[in-house]
Amino acid sequence: MDDPQIESLNAMEVLDSRGNPTLRVEILLSDGTHEVALVPSGASKGKYEALELRDGVKGRYGGRGVLVAVDNVNEVIKPVLLNRSPFDQNDIDTVLIDLDGTRDKSNLGANATLGVSLAVARVAAASRHIPLYKYLSRDPSDKAIMPVPMLNVINGGRHAHGSGDVQEFMIVPAGFSSFKEALRCGAEVYQSLKRILEQKGYSTNLGDEGGFAPALGSNEAAIEILIHAIGVAGYSTEKHCFIALDIAATELFQGNQYVMNQGQTHYSKEELIDYYSSLVKSYPIISIEDGLEEDDWDGWTMLTKALGSEIQIVGDDLFTTNKSRILEGSEKLAANALLTKFNQIGTLTETFQAVEIAQAENWGVIISHRSGETEDTTIADLAVATRAGQIKAGAPCRSERVAKYNRLLKIEDELGADSEYAGTAIYNK
Ligand code: PGA
Ligand code: ZN
Repeated sequence: MDDPQIESLNAMEVLDSRGNPTLRVEILLSDGTHEVALVPSGASKGKYEALELRDGVKGRYGGRGVLVAVDNVNEVIKPVLLNRSPFDQNDIDTVLIDLDGTRDKSNLGANATLGVSLAVARVAAASRHIPLYKYLSRDPSDKAIMPVPMLNVINGGRHAHGSGDVQEFMIVPAGFSSFKEALRCGAEVYQSLKRILEQKGYSTNLGDEGGFAPALGSNEAAIEILIHAIGVAGYSTEKHCFIALDIAATELFQGNQYVMNQGQTHYSKEELIDYYSSLVKSYPIISIEDGLEEDDWDGWTMLTKALGSEIQIVGDDLFTTNKSRILEGSEKLAANALLTKFNQIGTLTETFQAVEIAQAENWGVIISHRSGETEDTTIADLAVATRAGQIKAGAPCRSERVAKYNRLLKIEDELGADSEYAGTAIYNK
C-alpha cells in the first residue's frame, strides 16, 4: 500500500490557559489518521524569539487574535502541503521555512509554522501506530531517558502580579530512581508548601504556571519556605529535592541596572553575580536561568566563570532556541545549559538542531513549556525523544501543566525497564 499523504489541514483560533487566542491545527491523512496540535505562548518573551503573529485588531481580543496566522495556515501553507507525505519532517519544515522566507518567521508567524510542524509530526506518528517520543527519537533502540521535572511552585515577575520579582522558584526532585517517584515528591512538596503558606497567612492563589504567588518580601524568604516545605514533606535537600531559579533578568533590567525588591535594590551585573554566588553558597540551588539580561554576553561569560562549575547556568531569553545564538554562546562560554521552547523558533526541525548543538557541547538541556499553555502534550514526548534529561512544565497543578507530567507518567509506564530516570547524574557532569 502507498504511504498515506496529507489529505486535509486546517487551522482555527482557540484559547490558551490565560484565555488568549492561539492556534489549533488539525491534519487528516489519506489513511484516515487525524491529529491535532495546539500552540503555546509566552509572556516574558526574549527579544530574539521568532515572531508570534497577532492580528492587532483592537476591538477583538484586545488585539491578540490570531486570525491572520490561521489564514496563513489555511490559505498559504495548506495548498503547498496537500498530497505530501507527512513522514519527512525535515522536508516539511524546510517548506515552511522557505514559504515564510524571513529570519524570524515574521511573514507567516512562528505560531502558524509551529502549529503545522507539530501537527505533521503527531499525525505521522499516529499513522504508523508509534508513540510520538519513539517516532521522534534519533535512535529508538537506545534506553529512553525520563526527564527530571523542574516544577515552578512559586510564581513571580510577569506571571503573578503582586508577588516577588524573581519569575520562578522551582523544586527539582532529581534524587530518585524513577520519574514517577520524583513527581510524587514534587506533588507532596507542593501540598506541604500550600499548608505552610496557609498557616503563615499568605495567599495561596495561583500564578500563570500553577505555582503559588505569595508576597513573601524577599528571594531568601521564598527559598527558605521551599526548603521548609521539602523537609515537612519528608524529603532532604541534600539527597532528594533541590532548588532552581528562573530570574528572567531582562524583565528586571532598567537603565544598566537590575532593579529588585520593589525598586529598593539596584544591582550592577557584578553585584548581581556576587548575590547569586552567595545564594548558591547558602542554599541547595542547582540551576539559575536567565540570571542576566539577554544582550550582555560579557556578563554571561562572567557568570558562567563564577558559578558554571557548581551549577547549571541556563540560557532562555539569551538563546531563544536559536542555532546561531547558541553557537555564539558556546564560543563565548556564556552558559552551560539550554532552555528549549519550540515556539521561540517555529519548527520542530530547528528545535532538534538547537538541542543537538547544546548536546554536542555537553550542555544541560531543558525542554520547556510557555506560561501560556494548552492541553497539547508534545513537549513531554519531545523531552524523551531528545534525551534532554530535564523538563520545565510548571507546578503539579492546573490541567495544562499536569497534562505534560501525566503524559510522562504514561510514557515511563509504557517503557518499563526500557527507560531510566535522568536523576542527579545530569547535575554532576
Ligand atoms: P514565558 O516564561 O513562557 O512567559 O516566556 C517562561 C520562562 O521564562 O521560562
Ligand atoms: Zn525563562
